[in-house]
Parts: sequence; C-alpha cells; structure tokens
Amino acid sequence: MSQDTSYYQRHIFFCLNQRDNGEDSCAQHRAQAAFDRCKSQAKALGLSGAGKVRVNKAGCLDRCAGGPIAVVYPEAVWYSYVDEHDIDEIVQSHLRDGVVVQRLLTPPDVGR
Ligand code: FES
Repeated sequence: MSQDTSYYQRHIFFCLNQRDNGEDSCAQHRAQAAFDRCKSQAKALGLSGAGKVRVNKAGCLDRCAGGPIAVVYPEAVWYSYVDEHDIDEIVQSHLRDGVVVQRLLTPPDVGR
C-alpha cells in the first residue's frame, strides 16, 4: 500500500547565505530581494499553502559558483536567477504550471 506523504506540491529553497570573509555568496547578489519577491508573487497568485507551494530560506546549498541559487522540489530543479523577472518566470512557469524554466537552469557541473 502506498501513501502520498507530501504536504506541499512544490517547495522552493533560496540560498540566502551571507559570507563576511570577503568570499562571494548569494546574499551579495540580491538573494533576499528575490526570496521576498517569490514569496509575494506566490501569495498574489494564490499558490501558497498546504497542498500548494512553500517558499523557504536556506543556507548555503554548496553550488555558490552558479549563484544566486534556488532549488525546487520534488523535481530537484536548480536555478541560477538574476533579477525579479526571472523570479516571476519561475513562479508562473514552474511553481504554478509545472513547466521548468530551461533558460535559468544551473549548469550540472557547477559546484562551490
Ligand atoms: S552561497 Fe549560495 S549556494 Fe553557496
């Protein structure tokens, strides 16, 4: 017997890591603003809540070279975004419609 144990349909995590030692990190590339934008857009489109979408903060996801970084589950799709237009596209295309935004995918070999 199998049971669907998922609580959210999709879950997006934004790296908001801030490094104070001079090394680059997602927080230095407006990650907080992108997180805020994603949260407000998901809410505005009625996507937020149980059975729908959750937008969460994360620490370093260890793919910093592709930053700023966000990852969507359950598909495990990694994004490197630039600005709020990219965020809006991720929200509308992937989080709402389930269509991956190919142009924003983090290249597979990008790590820290
Ligand atoms: S600092 Fe964002 S992935 Fe590492």
